[in-house]
Amino acid sequence: MAEKPLLSLRDLTMVYHTRKGPVSAVDGVSFDLYPGQSMGLVGESGCGKTSVAMTMMKLLPDNAEIVRGEILLNGRNLVPLSNEEMRKVRWEQISMVFQAAMNALNPVYRVGDQIVEALEEHNRDITPAEGRKRVEQLFRLVGIDPAMADRYPHEYSGGMRQRAIIAMALACSPDLIIADEPTTALDVIVQDQVLRELRAVQQKLGMSMIYISHDIAVIAEVAETIGVMYAGRMAELGPASEIFRRPRHPYTVALMSAFPSIVGEKRELEALGGEPPDLLYPPPGCRFHPRCPRALDKCKEVQPPFENIGNQHYIACWNPAEVE
Ligand SMILES: Nc1ncnc2c1ncn2[C@@H]1O[C@H](COP(=O)(O)OP(=O)(O)OP(=O)(O)O)[C@@H](O)[C@H]1O
Ligand SMILES: [Mg+2]
Repeated sequence: MAEKPLLSLRDLTMVYHTRKGPVSAVDGVSFDLYPGQSMGLVGESGCGKTSVAMTMMKLLPDNAEIVRGEILLNGRNLVPLSNEEMRKVRWEQISMVFQAAMNALNPVYRVGDQIVEALEEHNRDITPAEGRKRVEQLFRLVGIDPAMADRYPHEYSGGMRQRAIIAMALACSPDLIIADEPTTALDVIVQDQVLRELRAVQQKLGMSMIYISHDIAVIAEVAETIGVMYAGRMAELGPASEIFRRPRHPYTVALMSAFPSIVGEKRELEALGGEPPDLLYPPPGCRFHPRCPRALDKCKEVQPPFENIGNQHYIACWNPAEVE
C-alpha cells in the first residue's frame, strides 16, 4: 500500500490504576489503518478491545494512564494533546459508536434535534435550516425515513435507534469511525442489516472503520484486516483473507473453531477451556500460555515479539500453528 496510514498505533500501553495495583489492559499494541480501510478487532470479553478504543479517543477514566507509545493520526501524535485539542479530534476526525449504545439517545428530545445539537457543538456557524438538512441527509444515508427526525426515541425500533446513533457518529464526517460491538442488543436479522449498512456507508464515504466484536463471524463480514487481541496484547494481525485461511496464533485458531455460529450469544471457547487472565496479575511470558495447546517452556517465561511473517501478517507466538 503506497498511501500513508490514517492511524498508526505504536507500542500503545495503558494501565488502570486500582487499589490492588495496575491493570494491564493495553500492552504494546501496534497497528496501521489506511484511509478507507476497515479493521476488525476481536477477542474474548475482557481482552482490552474497548480499552484500546477508549485510549485512542483519549476518553479514559481518571485512574487510567497511558504509560508509553504513540497514537498517530495523520502523522500527529495524539498522546500529548490536551483535552481541548482532543475535543476537536473527536467527532470531527474520529468518532465512536459506544458499546451498548442503544440507550445513548436522550428520551425527552426529538432524535433530529439531538443530532443538530451535536452538529452545532462542533460547527458554531451552522444555521438551523442547514442543521435540518444535514440530519435529513444523514437519515437517508443510514436508511431512516427523514420524517422520523421529529419523533422521540421511544417511537423508534431497536434497529432504527441504532441507525440514528450511527447517523450521529457520522454527523461531522469523521475520517474514522470506531464501532464497539454496536449491534449485540438487536435480534440477529436486524443486527445483520445494520452491520451491512454501516459497512456500505463506510465504503460510500471512504471512511476508515474499526469494528469491535467478540464474534469473529461478525468481524468476517465487515473487515478487510483483522486484529486478534488477547489479554491486552495483539496476538495476531493481518488481512482478513490470510487470517481466515491461515490463522497462525493458537488463540486465533481457537476463536475460529467457535465459528460458524453467526452472531448471537457469547460462546464459550470449548476447544480451549478456562478464561482470559485477570489483568491485575497477567501470566509471565506469553499471556496465552496457560490455555495454549501448543505452549512450550519458553512461552511461560519469555514474551514473544510481535513479528511480521510476510504479507502484512503479524503474530506474537513462539510456536505458531503449522500452515496446511
Ligand atoms: N475503569 C477500569 N478500572 C480498572 N480496570 C478496568 C477498568 N475498565 C476496564 N478494566 C479492565 O480492563 C480489562 C479490559 O477491559 P475491556 O473492557 O477493555 O475489555 P473488552 O475486550 O472490551 O471486553 P468486552 O468484550 O466484555 O467488552 C478488563 O480486565 C477490565 O476488567
Ligand atoms: Mg468492550
